[in-house]
Amino acid sequence: MKTDFLVIGAGIAGLTYVIKVAEKLPNKQIVVVTKGGETDSNTNYAQGGVAIVQNNTDSFEKHVQDTLKAGDGLCEEDIVRTVISEGPNCLAEMVEWGVKFDKNQLGDYDLGKEGGHSENRVVHHKDFTGAEISRALHLRLKQLTNVTYLEHHFVVDLISGHHLKNKLSKSQTTCYGAYVLNEQTNEIITIRSKITILASGGAGQVYGHTTNPKIATGDGIAMAYRIGAEVKEIEFIQFHPTALYYQVESPAFLISEAVRGFGAKLVNKNGEKFMSKYDNREELASRDIVAKAIDSELKLIGQEYVYLDCTQLDRIKFKSHFPKITDKCKSIGIDVFKDFIPVVPAAHYICGGISVDRDGQTSIKNLFAIGECSRTGLHGANRLASNSLLEAFVYADKCADKTTELIFKIKQLQNIPNWNSKGTTNPIELILISHNLKELQGLMKDYVGIVRSNERLERARIRLDLLYKETEKLYKKTTISPQLCELRNMITVAYLIVTHSQKRKENKGGFYNTDLV
Ligand code: SIN
Repeated sequence: MKTDFLVIGAGIAGLTYVIKVAEKLPNKQIVVVTKGGETDSNTNYAQGGVAIVQNNTDSFEKHVQDTLKAGDGLCEEDIVRTVISEGPNCLAEMVEWGVKFDKNQLGDYDLGKEGGHSENRVVHHKDFTGAEISRALHLRLKQLTNVTYLEHHFVVDLISGHHLKNKLSKSQTTCYGAYVLNEQTNEIITIRSKITILASGGAGQVYGHTTNPKIATGDGIAMAYRIGAEVKEIEFIQFHPTALYYQVESPAFLISEAVRGFGAKLVNKNGEKFMSKYDNREELASRDIVAKAIDSELKLIGQEYVYLDCTQLDRIKFKSHFPKITDKCKSIGIDVFKDFIPVVPAAHYICGGISVDRDGQTSIKNLFAIGECSRTGLHGANRLASNSLLEAFVYADKCADKTTELIFKIKQLQNIPNWNSKGTTNPIELILISHNLKELQGLMKDYVGIVRSNERLERARIRLDLLYKETEKLYKKTTISPQLCELRNMITVAYLIVTHSQKRKENKGGFYNTDLV
């Protein structure tokens, strides 16, 4: 298959990019591949919303300062200013594309508040903003005639100089497209592309206990790293403070931070509030602080969860803003107006990732990355809540501007070899994969969680080394399956998180090593 643009991933970043490029260059061809179906993206699970300065009491400067404070000194200020000032354009465009954001009785946007924000500035659609954005983008996508949308297609690897010349030279590395497994036919197709965009989302599944869907296995980060792309600040994993504690479920159901913005309080098993011990912003301190505070409380009281108390809140308004959360709790026997909601932190977002410039360009020629898989400099050591959908939109826009010019300078490479299927054993024992996945998730949860130490990180590294060797052996001798590729990608991402954690010598934002105190 041959195309001008290959987009990997179909969340807000990928789809925004596709719509923009397709509309700018109707004569160019775009192929979108996604390993899931229409509703399988991290975007689809986003509850809170998009942080955008709207009313007169707020200002870009306040939003900038909140972002810098949350990022704990590691944000790039010029990037922060650029992204935040694009907020109103992003909102206008999304509304034009048909996204519906909630309004109040005066007809103004109903602005939610989340941790780390000094003002109400989160535009939202009830408590399922991501699903609403996703719906509108997919509708728009269907109207485009120069886009081929391939669902249930799993990208095995990016095509680079490695495949062509069999040599590792970073300065020469260029991306020429990808090898993609059609999950229905089990065929690996070669997609040659002038420009490749990774919009492949996050990697919460590395931790097992996560708010991210099953597809969040860090594929884009791992495959970019394999061809030599620079990865930065991946040690900064954001744990969402309040995932619903309900053992049987993966992904963990999120109790949006907007619920605390609405007035809910965190309490221990005796119903006592504890956040004032940790930060004077209490429940609305930034996520790293709240998650760490809960982690310390749990260790102190020897329990597996704390509670969110919503019992004092306005019932009618709560139900109207948070219908999904209310219904979910009800479905497991919790009446949010009478009972406390058991909550626990869960892996939620990777603040770092594939290093990109202001246009989303990676260190590999003709390879771009946008959305959660990228590291732009916006989030620093801890992402401010609801800044990521905004970042995804703004970078999709910038990347579209850049690549719609660049495309005219790139020649399609002709002599790309097809996938060389080395493995022959078919099928393999799935237990070899599922066992190693459980082991990986267990060690990341226990050794590389909210609180780390040198000893835990070293133990994790040693165990990962073994998992890596076993999995590579399997990969070489068996036919390709999505499960095996995902495991391989998750091991790579885990390795990057651990080794970057070992290199970090100062605690910042969402990174905390007890040996550095
Ligand atoms: C939430 O609703 O709490 C999640 C929002 C986000 O991760 O930005």
